[in-house]
Amino acid sequence: MKIDVVVNGKKREFLIEPSEYLLDVLRRYDYSSVRRGCDNISCGVCTVLLDGKPIPSCSMLAVRCVGHEVTTVEGIEKEAEKIAHYFGELGADQCGYCNPSMALTVYALKKENREANDEEIKKYLVGNLCRCTGYVAQHEAIKKYLGDES
Ligand code: FES
Ligand code: FES
Repeated sequence: MKIDVVVNGKKREFLIEPSEYLLDVLRRYDYSSVRRGCDNISCGVCTVLLDGKPIPSCSMLAVRCVGHEVTTVEGIEKEAEKIAHYFGELGADQCGYCNPSMALTVYALKKENREANDEEIKKYLVGNLCRCTGYVAQHEAIKKYLGDES
């Protein structure tokens, strides 16, 4: 079946199976920043924004995205660069596998609540696993990004 979905501000037509998940469709159409990890809603690396809210694309049927807007990290390029800057500055960047999903989640948090406190940041990021960093440097980098008014 054919579906129309807006991805990063552009209307796209995707040919899909009714049972296909958004993660598989996005990767098939070369949105390779959307990563596959656990495939069972446990790791968060497949996160994209659906109408601005982070969702695990491995559990969202692509057909349910018709009429909605999907954002991958390519769609928030400038903000992703800022986030990468703070992650680099704080040494919060290692293998980078979780970076796109982390950037999208942090970007959504800033839109929702740029004054989030430590607990609110942790709560918002729950489900976004990083196998390398231990989270402390990431947490500090996120606080700097939230405070960035540029
Ligand atoms: S691949 Fe979707 S949550 Fe892990
Ligand atoms: S930096 Fe390696 S998984 Fe997060």
